[in-house]
Amino acid sequence: MREQLEQIRQQALDSIAATTSEELLNEIRVRFLGRKGELTSLMKGLGALSTEERPVIGQLVNSLKNELESIIDSALSDARNQKTAQKLASERIDVTLPGRRKMKGSKHPVTLVIEEVTEIFSHLGFSVAEGPEIEHDWYNFEALNFPPEHPARDMQDTFFVENSMLLRTHTSPVQIRAMLKQKPPVRIIAPGTVYRCDSDATHSPMFHQIEGLMVDSRVSFSDLKGILTIFTNQLFGQDTGVRLRPSFFPFTEPSAEVDIACVICGGSGCRVCKQSGWLEILGAGMVDPEVFRHVGYDPEIFSGFAFGMGIERIAMLKYGISDMRLLFENDVRFLRQF
Ligand code: DAH
Repeated sequence: MREQLEQIRQQALDSIAATTSEELLNEIRVRFLGRKGELTSLMKGLGALSTEERPVIGQLVNSLKNELESIIDSALSDARNQKTAQKLASERIDVTLPGRRKMKGSKHPVTLVIEEVTEIFSHLGFSVAEGPEIEHDWYNFEALNFPPEHPARDMQDTFFVENSMLLRTHTSPVQIRAMLKQKPPVRIIAPGTVYRCDSDATHSPMFHQIEGLMVDSRVSFSDLKGILTIFTNQLFGQDTGVRLRPSFFPFTEPSAEVDIACVICGGSGCRVCKQSGWLEILGAGMVDPEVFRHVGYDPEIFSGFAFGMGIERIAMLKYGISDMRLLFENDVRFLRQF
């Protein structure tokens, strides 16, 4: 029996040494120490021994049982520790690594100009008005006193949709909508997208304008000049020179084109201002009585001025952008600079 015990011990030790798996170790425990295990069945044979031998062998069996139990326990705890160590190693993160940089967006220069112009005019009592980009011929041309044969109505300029609908070619139709909606006094600006069938280095088929309109009982040309001087000084700097040149628009009489002293050379003449020292930035004039008649305002009582400017052009001058296409390509390396 002693030999048998020694054999069992060896077998158990060998199988424990051969594994690091918790599952196998548990199986080994059952195989040797379980209720139907090898040591238990050996105990059952104790009865056949002599009275002297029985306690001796019994003690041996017990001590082997204890020995195996503690060896299996410690093997199990080693196995668990190893597993935890592996898990920790595989889930390790290096908290000293630098974080991933988040791309920070910036506002498009066209948006910046719209916001700044809106801000300046809001301090002068103007509020923002809007109109549709798909517009009816009547608002875009007819009510603004464009004669039927006016070249701007030509296919080469206007994107026609159907049934007298078109993509608005300027923001001026918002003037008409504003006046039809309210009685004077009117003081609005209307930023928006406009469309023309035109595309080269300085023209885009889609671009932006800001329209302005002020109507009241005694609005004069000097009000127009005063407001525009305040505006250009705030947008381009205090001492920016302003001049008005006579011009023509169907919906204003008299009409003017407004120049500012060249922001690049200060007026001495350079490539940007084509040596003239001046840059054209907007069109303006006194609202033509014919326009007032279209919206039901009495031109004997009311007078007003209107103006309109291209936002891309203002952005190019303000930020020194040489090619308008940069404003539409949406290259983030360009846009990030604003
Ligand atoms: N609508 C004109 C254009 O697109 C710009 C303009 C000129 C607007 C004179 C006005 C104005 O309100 O009075 O070229």
